[in-house]
Amino acid sequence: MAQNIDWSNLGFGYVQTDYRYVSNFKDGAWDEGVLTQDANIVLNECAGVLQYAQTVFEGLKAYRTQDGKIVCFRPDLNADRMVDSAKRLEMPAFPKEKFIEAVKKVVAANADFVPPYGSGATLYLRPYMFGSNPVIGVKPASEYQFRIFCTPVGPYFKGGVKPLTIKVSDFDRAAPNGTGHIKAGLNYAMSLHAIVTAHEEGFDENMYLDSKTRTKVEETGGANFLFVTKDGKVVTPKSSSILPSITRRSLIYVAKEYLGLEVEEREVYFDEVKDFAECGLCGTAAVISPVGKIVDHGKEICLPSGMSDMGPITKKLYETLTGIQMGRIEAPEGWIQVIE
Ligand code: PLP
Ligand code: COI
Repeated sequence: MAQNIDWSNLGFGYVQTDYRYVSNFKDGAWDEGVLTQDANIVLNECAGVLQYAQTVFEGLKAYRTQDGKIVCFRPDLNADRMVDSAKRLEMPAFPKEKFIEAVKKVVAANADFVPPYGSGATLYLRPYMFGSNPVIGVKPASEYQFRIFCTPVGPYFKGGVKPLTIKVSDFDRAAPNGTGHIKAGLNYAMSLHAIVTAHEEGFDENMYLDSKTRTKVEETGGANFLFVTKDGKVVTPKSSSILPSITRRSLIYVAKEYLGLEVEEREVYFDEVKDFAECGLCGTAAVISPVGKIVDHGKEICLPSGMSDMGPITKKLYETLTGIQMGRIEAPEGWIQVIE
C-alpha cells in the first residue's frame, strides 16, 4: 500500500508494487506483453536462467517533478544497452519502442508509488530478461521472458551524501574480453563475495582495477568512477570492460555544456588517484555518491574533499543532474520522457 510508505526514510530495497510488465519470446517472436499483478514467476527446474545464468537487466528511475509531473530519465539508452547485453549472451533483442512503452505502462500503473517531489526517494525500474525454457546442454535458451517491475527507493548508500570509504579489491570484476561492458546478472553474482568481504572489513564498496595489468581504475560493483583534478578538470576512466553508465555519459555532457568544465575520458592509472581532488561514484542507483577515502592494502588515500561533504565540483554536477531529472533545470532535448 503506497499510502503507508515513509518516503523520506526509504533505503534501497524491494517494496512490492501493484503492477509489472511481462512479455514472452517463443517461436522466434515476442508476444504483445501485458501488465500483471502477479509478482511471482513459475519456471521449469531446467530453465536456462537457473542452470547457466542466462539473464540481463537494466536499471532506471522515474521521478516526480517540481510541477507534479511523473517523468523518466533517458529510457531509450537503457533500451539500447539491454539490446547490447542480450546480444552478448545470445538472447533475442527486446525492441526499443516496446521497451519504452513498457516502462511508461509500468510507471503509469504504479503512479501511487512514485515518491513525492522533495522526499529524496524515486521509483526505481528494473527491466530484465531471462532464458525460460529447459536447457541442459550448454546452449542458449529458445524461449525468454522480459519483465519490468518497479520499487520505490531511497539512497543506495546508507547515510545519503556522506563520503564513502572504499577498498582496492584483490578480486576481479571483469575479464579483458569478457562481459564487463554489459549488464549481465553473472557480473553481479561474481561480485558478491568481494562486496561481502569489503563490508566485513568496514568498507562501503570496492574499487576494481583492470584484471590484466592491475594498474588502471575500472569501476565499482555498481557504478562508474568520476574524478576531479586539482585544477577542476573532470576525469573518468575509459575501458572496454566497464559498464557504459548512462549517468556518467549524462554527467560528461552536464560538465561540458552546463558547467563549462573540461572533461577527459581516458585510461586512469591507479597511481594518479592520490593526486585527484574529488572522487565520486556515478550510476542510476548511486546518482553521484562522493568518495572520501580509498584504501589500497592498508595505504590510505584521503581525498582533499574530506569525509564530511561532497567536493564542490561533485556537488555542482549532482545538483545540475538531479535538477534536470526533477524538472528544476531545463533538460537537453530527449532526456526526459513525460509519463503523466
Ligand atoms: N557500473 C555498473 C557495474 C553498474 O551496475 C551500474 C548501474 O547500472 C553502473 C555502472 C551505472 O550505470 P547507469 O548510470 O547506467 O545506471
Ligand atoms: C543501477 O544503478 O541501476 C544498478 O543496477 C546498480 C545496482 C548495483 C543496484
